[in-house]
Amino acid sequence: MSALDRALTIDDLKTLARRRVPRQFFDYIDSGAYTEQTYNSNEADFDRITLRQRVAVNLENRNLASTMLGQPVSMPIAIAPVGSTGMTDADGEIKAARAAEKAGIPFTLSTMAICSIEDIAENTSKPFWFQLYVMRDRAYIERLIDRARAAGCSALVLTMDLQLLGQRHKDLRNGLTAPPKFTPKFVAEMMVKPGWAFRMLGTKRHTFGNIAGHVSDAVNLASLTEWTRTQFDLTLNWKDIGWIKKRFGGPVIVKGVLDAEDAKLAIANGADAIVVSNHGGRQLDGAPSTIRVLPEIVDAVGNQTEVLVDGGIRSGQHLLKALALGAKGALVGRIMAYGLGAGGEAGVTRALDIVRKETDTTMALMGERDIRNIGLHNIYSNDLDKRQGY
Ligand SMILES: Cc1cc2nc3c(=O)[nH]c(=O)nc-3n(C[C@H](O)[C@H](O)[C@H](O)COP(=O)(O)O)c2cc1C
Repeated sequence: MSALDRALTIDDLKTLARRRVPRQFFDYIDSGAYTEQTYNSNEADFDRITLRQRVAVNLENRNLASTMLGQPVSMPIAIAPVGSTGMTDADGEIKAARAAEKAGIPFTLSTMAICSIEDIAENTSKPFWFQLYVMRDRAYIERLIDRARAAGCSALVLTMDLQLLGQRHKDLRNGLTAPPKFTPKFVAEMMVKPGWAFRMLGTKRHTFGNIAGHVSDAVNLASLTEWTRTQFDLTLNWKDIGWIKKRFGGPVIVKGVLDAEDAKLAIANGADAIVVSNHGGRQLDGAPSTIRVLPEIVDAVGNQTEVLVDGGIRSGQHLLKALALGAKGALVGRIMAYGLGAGGEAGVTRALDIVRKETDTTMALMGERDIRNIGLHNIYSNDLDKRQGY
């Protein structure tokens, strides 16, 4: 039995990933901003929600299939955009996209991916989602949106919560860069992670594939790094949804909404769906967990739009709690990243299988047969009471 087969939980995959991935790239995944309060509460707050156990219902012919944005999904999960995934494992975005395609769920490619939009299109056969960071260079952003459209992307995920970076101490201490700098420390790391290094030597994809070669100011590594650092557009606002949507000509999902008022503004300005997200605890440290604010956001806009959620989801039980609180589906970042680090494409497949099985068994033990019927009746309503000191 391989180590991957022995992994029973996402945490087991995380342990394997820690062993296989050089420290700076593992820490990049396993970190939140500043004190990591929000990063930790994303996961911990799921423990505040308890599932109702119902018995003696027919549990034959269970169904996990649903839709997200009208697109059929084999379970209501999409892979979240995760920048630099190709540093977790060589050609990581291609591997994750293939695993997602085989699993029958959407894959989202980050603007800050190592593999390019065209790389994913060439190596998969189903449409994927593209996540957009808006940069100052609007001509470049227009070309990027055009490339996503030309590649057949079926949705654009517009991230609104990262126009400047929440500080992650580990990344600064580790001197994280993509591509990595060959410092003596990093070379020593590679010697103890030879599989990772060997696979990296076998690919030419070592830098931001959606940017390199597509902007004239970024001709080499130094200028590309500088360009990226200075390009995030601080003037991004709700009105920008309009032109982005027009240019793309397909559905735009606004990601990074953590407040009911913002949810209303996103919808009023044309968002086709929203992702309740705090960027996996990587931006505003001290912000609430996403599972905590999900109910009030669903109350505010749930009858007008599809509300998706991400942050802290590590199991099928977590997914079911998010659905019970009104999410139509969830995005998962670290589940994918730990799986990829643990075993490449097969590792992502293993991660998705683990969550799928947990979801199916848990749903059955809740006395439900169809994931589309999960709702508030599946949890204890007093769990949501703010007086419990959430
Ligand atoms: C290593 C890492 C890189 C990320 N890069 C991006 C990105 O490029 N674009 C983006 O919109 N979100 C990015 N995110 C946030 C994820 O899309 C998602 O919101 C978050 O991972 C969800 O939380 P989870 O990891 O607990 O599932 C990143 C998250 C991680 C962990």
